[in-house]
Amino acid sequence: MSQIAELNETAELKLGDITVEFPVITGSENEKGIDISSLRGKSGYITLDLGYKNTGSCTSAITFLDGELGILRHRGYSIEDLADKASFIEVAFLVIYGELPTKDQLAEFEAGIKEYLMPPAGIQQMLKAFPSTGHPMGMLSSAICALHAWYPESLNAYRPEDQKALTYRRLLGFLPAISAWIYCVQNGQDFTKADASLDYSENFMKMMFNKDVAPAVVSAINKLLILHVDHEQNCSASTVRMVGSSHANLYASISAGIDALWGPLHGGANQKVIEMLEAIKADGGDADKWLAKAKDKDDPFRLMGFGHRVYKNFDPRARIIKKAADEVLNNLGIVDPVLEIAKALESKALADPYFAERKLYPNVDFYSGIIYRALGIPTEMFTVMFAIGRLPGWIAQWREMRIDGDPIGRPRQIYTGYPPRDFVAMENR
Ligand code: CMC
Repeated sequence: MSQIAELNETAELKLGDITVEFPVITGSENEKGIDISSLRGKSGYITLDLGYKNTGSCTSAITFLDGELGILRHRGYSIEDLADKASFIEVAFLVIYGELPTKDQLAEFEAGIKEYLMPPAGIQQMLKAFPSTGHPMGMLSSAICALHAWYPESLNAYRPEDQKALTYRRLLGFLPAISAWIYCVQNGQDFTKADASLDYSENFMKMMFNKDVAPAVVSAINKLLILHVDHEQNCSASTVRMVGSSHANLYASISAGIDALWGPLHGGANQKVIEMLEAIKADGGDADKWLAKAKDKDDPFRLMGFGHRVYKNFDPRARIIKKAADEVLNNLGIVDPVLEIAKALESKALADPYFAERKLYPNVDFYSGIIYRALGIPTEMFTVMFAIGRLPGWIAQWREMRIDGDPIGRPRQIYTGYPPRDFVAMENR
């Protein structure tokens, strides 16, 4: 599925008296890598790369991104085109299966998902049992993992692809419903029913708010979901692959991906951005003061929604979202002072040498929360929205890893603990 070419080049590493040679490989967009898989066998050494800043963990044909140029493409199609011209389900099919669906394929895929719009009743009982202090992401990951109990055949890692495809459809159908129900639990609302006559985003919003949703809102949600579909080997996608590499089932792997996404350095940043903007507003709206805090190395505060491991230029998703935030607020006639604070913060940060030198630009999370807020979605649910959008990408990454037959993920380490020492009996401690 994902292919690499071996170049006529080699890389040499000198380690004392020995010289080790490695093949140089290239991807379809000419990114080059050194295949060091033989390093330990040939030399006894390993490489150390904290945070995997320079380490490719797999080959993949799903998403290409060029962080220097601010390019993002799924299966060769630009994110700008997909966000503008496609439906979320079309993009989900594209990332999972590699090609845009034909009309018939799309109809069949959509109908398959619509068979699973209502999760098992036991999931409702489970969600109801959570105390009100439960965070939606924790509830979501628990419920997704629990689904295996209703579909125990999913535990068999060696099922044929068409049976696994049922799990993809169940997940795509159930995840928005579970998310809407989490909202119901948190708001003391009765559980809502799915409406299979509606489009994916509309059904989800209606399940959450239990009322009809304006077309402008449905279209904004569709766009936001597409913008979150996949982002190659980020923390949550790598988690899904890592868990799946032990041949754990897809529910468990996606549940783990949700947990990884929850963190404020990853998808949880969208919640933190709004909390930050609210705090700045409550503090008098002085952008310079908060930028100074972000630059102060003795202050743990970071400008949330800024910076990215791979983008050293504008995150192309942030450009689209910023425009969409303006459109949604205008359409709905909402004036949100937090949007003005966000814009002031962005323009000051972009003009500041600290951010310029480190190539820190707004990322996907900087403006997405402003749209979610305008649509009436509570802050704690923002990362759940990210998860609904990211689900097709996680499925695609898991599926590709299994089809490629990737080995179990098992990094090495450099041990820094004690040398051998004698056990001390309890009476002598
Ligand atoms: N505010 C202030 N300084 C920053 C920020 C920030 N948001 N991001 C990075 N820096 C500084 C950092 O202190 C370091 O400075 P120095 O070189 O002087 O030590 C330099 O920039 C490089 O940062 P890093 O932490 O080494 O970079 P990283 O690639 O490990 O981290 C990041 C990437 C996204 C975790 C980080 O930029 C960050 O914490 N941003 C805020 C959280 C955020 O918005 N996360 C969402 C990411 S996009 C959505 C997703 O896909 O997850």
